[in-house]
Amino acid sequence: MPAPTSDLSGLLRRLGDRLRHVGYTPESLQRLLAIAYPDDIGPLNHTPALERLHGDRSPAATLIALFFLEAAQPYRRVAAVLTCASCDALCRAGLLQRRGDVLTARLRIDPVGNQYVLGDRRFRRFERAALRLGGDDPVYPPSSDSLMLHAAVVAPTVTPAGMRILDLCSGSGVQALQQAAGAESVIAVDINPRAVALARYNAQLNGVGNLDVRRGDAYAAVRGLQFDLIIANPPFVASPYAHGPSYHAGGARGDRVLRRIIAGFERHLRPGGRAFAISHVTLRAG
Ligand SMILES: C[S@@+](CC[C@H](N)C(=O)[O-])C[C@H]1O[C@@H](n2cnc3c(N)ncnc32)[C@H](O)[C@@H]1O
Repeated sequence: MPAPTSDLSGLLRRLGDRLRHVGYTPESLQRLLAIAYPDDIGPLNHTPALERLHGDRSPAATLIALFFLEAAQPYRRVAAVLTCASCDALCRAGLLQRRGDVLTARLRIDPVGNQYVLGDRRFRRFERAALRLGGDDPVYPPSSDSLMLHAAVVAPTVTPAGMRILDLCSGSGVQALQQAAGAESVIAVDINPRAVALARYNAQLNGVGNLDVRRGDAYAAVRGLQFDLIIANPPFVASPYAHGPSYHAGGARGDRVLRRIIAGFERHLRPGGRAFAISHVTLRAG
C-alpha cells in the first residue's frame, strides 16, 4: 500500500478547494438531480440522471457527471474547470484516467456536508489501480445509511480534556471526517486495507489533521482505549455468502459484526460517553 506523498497530499487539498469553489456540493446534487441521498441514483435511473444534465455546461454539472455519475467527460470540459495541469497531475496520480480526448474518474467523489469523500465506483468496474491503492476489496462510498447514521449522531458534552472519537468499520472514513472538527483525537478502524489507505487520502483531501486510521478487526486496534463517542456502520446485509466485499455481508442474520461492536461499548466508552450504530433488522416469524 503506498504511503501518501506530500505531493499527492497537496494535489488532493487543491482538488478539494476547487470542488468547493465551483459549487460541487450536496445542494447542487439536490438541485440538478433532485436527490436526497447519493444512492437515490442506482443502475435503473442512472441514464435519466445523465439526461437531466444534458446541455448543462456549468462547472458543477461537469463535475457531477464525472465524479458522481461516473460518466466519461471530454478532457477539454474538465480541464476548463480543474485546469489542464491539475487534470494531468490527477491522471499521473491515478485518480483520473485519460483515453484520447475523454477523462474518467477511477474513484467517485461524494460531497458530504462541506467535505469530499473518495470511494469506489457504483456504476463502473472496480479499479484496483485507482490512486495505486491496490487490494481486491472495494471501499463503500457514502450512501443513505452513512448519511442517516451521521444525522443521528449527537455527541456528548465535550469533556474538559477534549472529545475522543472512535469510528468503527470506517470504510471511506466519512463518519470520522464529519466529526473531526473540534475533537481531541479521532481513530478510524477498518478491516479492509484499501479502505484504510483511502480514508487517509480522504483526510488529506479535506485537510483533516487529527485522524488516525488503523487496520483492524472490530476493537482489536484500540485495545485498552476508551472514547467519548463511538460510531459504527458495520456490514449488515443478511447473507449466506462468506465471500464478497467486506462492506456488505453481515452473516446469515446480518448482525455478525454488529453484535461484537455492541458487546464492546461498555469496555470502550468513557463515563458519559455515547455510541451510535446503524443496521437493518429483518423481522421474521419465529
Ligand atoms: C457499510 S460500510 C460503512 C463505511 C462507512 N463507515 C460509512 O458509514 O459509509 C462497512 C465497513 O465495515 C468494514 N468491516 C467489515 N467487517 C469489519 C470488521 N470485523 N472490523 C472492522 N471493519 C469491518 C468494511 O470493510 C466496510 O468498510
